[in-house]
Amino acid sequence: MGTTTNGPLESLDQWDDDVRARYRADRKKDEFRVYDDSTPQVVRDFYKQNHALQTLEFARGKRAEYESRQKAEMGIWEAMERLNTLVDDSDPDTDLSQIEHNLQTSEAIRADGHPRWFQLTGFIHDLGKVLTMWGEPQWAVVGDTFPVGCRWSDKIVYPEFFSANPDSQNAELMSRYGVYSEQCGLENVNLSWGHDEYLYHITKDYVPEPAQYMIRYHSWYSAHREMDYQYLMSDHDMEMMEWVRKFNPYDLYSKSAVKPDLATLRPYYEDLVAEFFPAKIKW
Ligand SMILES: [Fe+2]
Ligand SMILES: [Fe+2]
Repeated sequence: MGTTTNGPLESLDQWDDDVRARYRADRKKDEFRVYDDSTPQVVRDFYKQNHALQTLEFARGKRAEYESRQKAEMGIWEAMERLNTLVDDSDPDTDLSQIEHNLQTSEAIRADGHPRWFQLTGFIHDLGKVLTMWGEPQWAVVGDTFPVGCRWSDKIVYPEFFSANPDSQNAELMSRYGVYSEQCGLENVNLSWGHDEYLYHITKDYVPEPAQYMIRYHSWYSAHREMDYQYLMSDHDMEMMEWVRKFNPYDLYSKSAVKPDLATLRPYYEDLVAEFFPAKIKW
C-alpha cells in the first residue's frame, strides 16, 4: 500500500474495479448488491470507514475548505500528470494508468460522435482524485457518493455500515428529507465528500451544465443507476441526470478496450483542453 492512498484499498483503482464488477452488464438487477467471498475484504473495510465517517458536518466542512480553491494553481495537464504519479505509484500491478482510463473514456465518447464538451468531460472526469495530494484519505476521495443530512437509501452499497455513522443517532437527519425538503433541488443537497464534488467546484466555470452534472454525480449510483432520491430533485435536475446516465457506460465499460496511445492522441487533447480551460486554474 502506498503512502498516497491512506486507507484499506491497495489503490484507488480498486474501488473503480469493484463498481465495474457490481454493475457489469451481465449481472441481473437482483444480484447488484449481493456480496460474497469474491468481494475483497479491503473493499468492505473501505466502505466501513466511508459510511461511518461521511457525516453532514464532514461534507459541509470539506466543501467549505475546498470550494474557495486556495490549494494550488495548475493546468489540467499538470493535474493529470500528478494524478498519474500519485495514484499509480502505490499500485505496481495496475495495467492502466489514470491518464489511460481518462483517455479510454473520452475516446469511447468521441468514437460515438458526441460533441467536444462531452469528450472533454470524459477526459477530465476523475481529476478530482488529486485530493490525495492534499492528504485526503481514500474514504474522502473515492467510493459511491450519497446525500448526507437525510435518511440514507437502502440502495446504497453496504447500508448496514451506516449504523456506525454519528448522524444515525440524530432523528432530524434520519427523516426522509432531513435538513432538505421535497424537490428542493440538488444545488441545496450535500453529497458525501469526494473527487466528484471537488472537481465540480474546480471546473464549473469552464464547462457546460450537463458536464457539471456528469462530473458532480458520476459516483452517485443510488441515484443515477438505482433511481432513488428523485424526491430531492427539481424537474431540471431530473432532466440533467439523464446526462449522468448517458455518461456512466463510458466510465464503466471502456476499461477493457485497447490501450490508448497518449503520444498519438496528445495533440488532439491539448487542443480540446485549451478550448475550454486557461493555461492554469485554481485548485
Ligand atoms: Fe470517478
Ligand atoms: Fe472514471
